[in-house]
Amino acid sequence: MHFIKDSVLTDKLTQLFIFERDQQGNDAAVVGTLMIVPFPDLKEMPTEGEAMITRFAISPKHQSKGLGRLILDASLDVMREQGYLRCSIRVFENRPPVLSWYTKLGFADTGERRAFKAPPGKVLALPVGFVIMKKELL
Ligand SMILES: CC(C)(COP(=O)(O)OP(=O)(O)OC[C@H]1O[C@@H](n2cnc3c(N)ncnc32)[C@H](O)[C@@H]1OP(=O)(O)O)[C@@H](O)C(=O)NCCC(=O)NCCS
Repeated sequence: MHFIKDSVLTDKLTQLFIFERDQQGNDAAVVGTLMIVPFPDLKEMPTEGEAMITRFAISPKHQSKGLGRLILDASLDVMREQGYLRCSIRVFENRPPVLSWYTKLGFADTGERRAFKAPPGKVLALPVGFVIMKKELL
């Protein structure tokens, strides 16, 4: 059985988790997570009224069971409670099924693109960019 545990709230970040429970009903493992940040990459200036979803993943053996949709919907409710008007997400441009999934969930391609920068010490085999998608939270 899976459920969303309380979100962990700090001044700037909110992280949600989905836990798998063992037969005794105790949290046994994290199977999904998502972070809400008030500004992109934790470096750039915040955009008024906008939060971004990042660090979003469901463990491979639990994918395609609706958990991604569950935690994403929960995060949108958290953002509304926190007073945000808009949610943005960066999606790799070379992942059409994921882009289509976000479109189905109400996100729209803004036309804005960002380059993915390799972490320090790493080199990209091929350049890849992010599509910036946004959803109004009203
Ligand atoms: C994207 C992700 C969070 C979706 O979680 P999930 O629990 O599988 O999502 P749901 O079960 O609610 O919805 C599944 C739908 O997502 C879409 N989808 C998501 N990732 C996909 C992929 N890599 N290939 C094809 N379809 C994908 C499909 O429409 C799929 O529907 P289907 O299962 O009927 O084929 C999960 O696949 C994941 O962790 N991927 C790796 C990390 C990642 O890409 N994070 C998002 C970064 S923007």
